[in-house]
Amino acid sequence: MEIKIFKNANDAAKTVETIFAKTLKSGDEVFGLATGSTPETTYARLVTSDLDFSNATAINLDEYYGLNSDHPQSYAYFMNKHLFNKKPFKHTYIPNGIAEDPQAEIDRYNKILEENPRNLQILGIGTNGHIGFNEPGTDFASKTQLVNLTEETIEANQRFFKKREDVPKQAFSMGIDSILDADHIILMAFGENKADAVKDMIEGPVTELLPASILQKHNHVTIILDEDAASKLS
Ligand code: GLP
Repeated sequence: MEIKIFKNANDAAKTVETIFAKTLKSGDEVFGLATGSTPETTYARLVTSDLDFSNATAINLDEYYGLNSDHPQSYAYFMNKHLFNKKPFKHTYIPNGIAEDPQAEIDRYNKILEENPRNLQILGIGTNGHIGFNEPGTDFASKTQLVNLTEETIEANQRFFKKREDVPKQAFSMGIDSILDADHIILMAFGENKADAVKDMIEGPVTELLPASILQKHNHVTIILDEDAASKLS
């Protein structure tokens, strides 16, 4: 694991942009992308950069179950707003939150993942150590699943919704095994509320109780932190 600590999220985003640029330049064009507030500064930089993603493929980690792509809190809406509408990609994939047959949607997504190995995977981290929506206890060998969100995650994501009851209780998530397939993984974490999860991910045991800890076993991981998120590292 390579760990880089920056003064703030804007400085961190410059470095992540450079990694996107290098990946593209080397001819690698399949990107696993994440949502949440953490990657917003990175996407803002990509949008204003001169990088060309018109031959690239984007595959997102997850989507709330029950929200369609027009819903302002859906991850499809987020990606269109923050990145795809302004910086077009050749192909973009995200689970269909209103799929009538969840198992068929899971199978469809797993096929997309098999056919498009990721060169670079972007991750955030939940306060409970989740990656994607793979909550504590998720099998490290998991593929795409329809997951039940924990109370902690519902609580943390409530800030984006009017009321707690509006937060979906389930989501489709790319599995941990598929996340680990990527050649290079960048996990970003900003803010003091991520400091405990960051410390456990880097310094704690590798355990399914802290999903992000599995990144210790991947051979090319870059952890990008601001000073607050890094504040509990020893
Ligand atoms: C969400 C997403 C994750 C994200 C995490 C942190 O629930 N499913 O992909 O990394 O929680 O979100 P944020 O970046 O807003 O703190």
